[in-house]
Amino acid sequence: MAKQEDVFKTIIAHAKEYGFVFQSSEIYDGLSAVYDYGQNGVELKNNIKRYWWEAMTMLHDNIVGIDSAIFMHPTIWKASGHVDAFNDPLIDNRDSKKRYRADVLIEDEIAKFDDKINKEVAKAAKRFGESFDEAMFRQTNPRVLEHQQKRDALHNRFSEAMNANDLAELKQIILDYEIVDPISGTKNWTDVRQFNLMFKTEMGSTADGAMDVYLRPETAQGIFVNYLNVQKTGRMRLPFGIAQIGKAFRNEIVARQFIFRMREFEQMEMQFFVRPGEELKWFDFWRQTRLRWHKALGLGDGKYRYHDHEKLAHYANAATDIEFLMPFGFKEVEGIHSRTNFDLSQHEKFSGKKIQYFDPELGESYVPYVIETSIGVDRMFLSVFCSCYEDQDLGNGDRRAVLHFPPALAPVKCAVLPLVKKDGLPEKAREIQHRLRFDFTCQVDEKDSIGKRYRRQDAIGTPFCITVDHQTLEDNTVTLRHRDTMEQERVAVDDLEKILSEKVNLNTLLKKLL
Ligand code: GAP
Repeated sequence: MAKQEDVFKTIIAHAKEYGFVFQSSEIYDGLSAVYDYGQNGVELKNNIKRYWWEAMTMLHDNIVGIDSAIFMHPTIWKASGHVDAFNDPLIDNRDSKKRYRADVLIEDEIAKFDDKINKEVAKAAKRFGESFDEAMFRQTNPRVLEHQQKRDALHNRFSEAMNANDLAELKQIILDYEIVDPISGTKNWTDVRQFNLMFKTEMGSTADGAMDVYLRPETAQGIFVNYLNVQKTGRMRLPFGIAQIGKAFRNEIVARQFIFRMREFEQMEMQFFVRPGEELKWFDFWRQTRLRWHKALGLGDGKYRYHDHEKLAHYANAATDIEFLMPFGFKEVEGIHSRTNFDLSQHEKFSGKKIQYFDPELGESYVPYVIETSIGVDRMFLSVFCSCYEDQDLGNGDRRAVLHFPPALAPVKCAVLPLVKKDGLPEKAREIQHRLRFDFTCQVDEKDSIGKRYRRQDAIGTPFCITVDHQTLEDNTVTLRHRDTMEQERVAVDDLEKILSEKVNLNTLLKKLL
C-alpha cells in the first residue's frame, strides 16, 4: 500500500480519536458519506467559517450576508438547470448488482497509467540516486512515453464523450478497456444512464396536494432569488456581493476520501454582481483575492495551485479551481466562476419578474453579471487538518501526534494545567481560566502527569499550555508552553490576555489580507 494512504488512514483515525469527526449514525453501523463533527471538530469548523465570513463581510464594504432557507420553490431548480442537467452517468454490474459512476471507473483506469509512470520514475530515481533528472527521464524514457501516450489517448476519448454527453461512448470505453467490476470481477455491464444528484422530498400532506421539493444542491440559488430583496433593502450599488454559508445536499454515488465528498456538506458561497463587460476584470480580482485568503493561513504556498477550466459550462465565460495538496493528490477546494447573467436571466424568465439593476451612471437597466466564489467548508476543514497533522519524532524513541493549526483556527486556544492536584494549584488554575474564558476557548486539565497533558493538548492543536506551579502562588507568574517548539517561558498572569490575543485572535489572520 502506498505510504500516503497509510498517512491518510492515520489522520482519519486521529480525527475520530480526538473528537473532530465521527461517522454519522455509527452505533447503527454508519450512514455512508455522512459525517458528524465532534466537540473539537465543531470549534475548528466554526473558526474556518468565521474566518471566511469576516473576510467577506467585514473587509469588504460592498459585501453583505444572508441566510436563505434550504427548501425553495421547486421551479428554482428548473430555472437553474439542476432538474435537467445536474446528473452523473451511472452503470450497473449485473453480477454484483452494484452501481458505479461510469466516469469514475474510467478515471480510475486513467490513474492506473499514472501509477505505472510513477513506478517507473520511482525505480529510476532509486537506481540513479542524486544524479537523477526526473524531468528528462519523463520526457525520454520509452516505457514512460508509451504509458503516457496510452493515458492521453484514453483521457481525450473520455473528455470528448463527457463533453458530448455521449453515454453510449462511455459504455464503449469501459468495454474496450476491459474494465471489470472490482467486486464480481466481471464485465457484465448495463447501459450507462443519467442519474440526478438532487434529493427529493414532499412538502405538505398528500390530501392538500403535496409538492415535490428538493434539498438544495448548492447555496448559490438562495442568493440569486434574493438579489432584488437585498439590492433594494440595502440600497446596494453595483458592484456588490452577497455571501452565504449553509448546508447543501447531493446524492453522490461514489463517496470516498472521508469528508472530501459527502452527501450532506456545507458551502461558503459569495455571488458578486457586476456591470456586463466588467466580469473578467472582477473574475481576475476574485481569483487572486481568494488565493490570498488561503495562503494567509500559512499552510504552505506550494500546496496550492490553480486549475483553469478549458471546457466551460454553457453559461460561464471563465472558471478556475483552487486546488490543495491533500494526502491523495491535488484536489479542488474552491471554485471561482464567471457565470455571466445566466442565473438571474433564467429566474427572470421562469418567475416572470423583472430582475434588473438601474445603473445611474449609465442611465440604463440591465441584468447584472455574476462572479461566484464557492468553497466547501468540509474540504477546507480536511485541507487544514491534513496539512497540520504531524506524527513527530522527538528522538530517543519518543514521539508525539501534533496538530499545528494556525492559532486563530485552533479549537482550544489555551489549557491551564496545575502542576499537581493539591496545595491550592487547581484553584489558582480555575481562577486564571475564569479570567481568560471571556476571550479564548480555555480548558483546565488536572488529570495525569504534566507530560501526558501536554501530549493531549498537542493532539488537538492547542497553541498554548499555561502551567501553574508553586511559584505561581508566590509571584503570580506561570510557564507558557508553545505547542510547535515546545519551548517554555515564564510570564506574568497579568500579561496572559495580551500575549494570547496577539497570537490567537482572528484579527491576526484578517490583517494579513489587507
Ligand atoms: N455554486 C457552485 C457550486 O456549487 P461546485 O464546484 O459544485 O460549485 C463548490 O461546488 C464547492 O463545494 C467545491 O469546490 C467543494 O469544495 C464543495 N463540494 C461540492 N460537492 C461536495 C461534496 N459532495 N462534498 C463536500 N464538498 C463538496
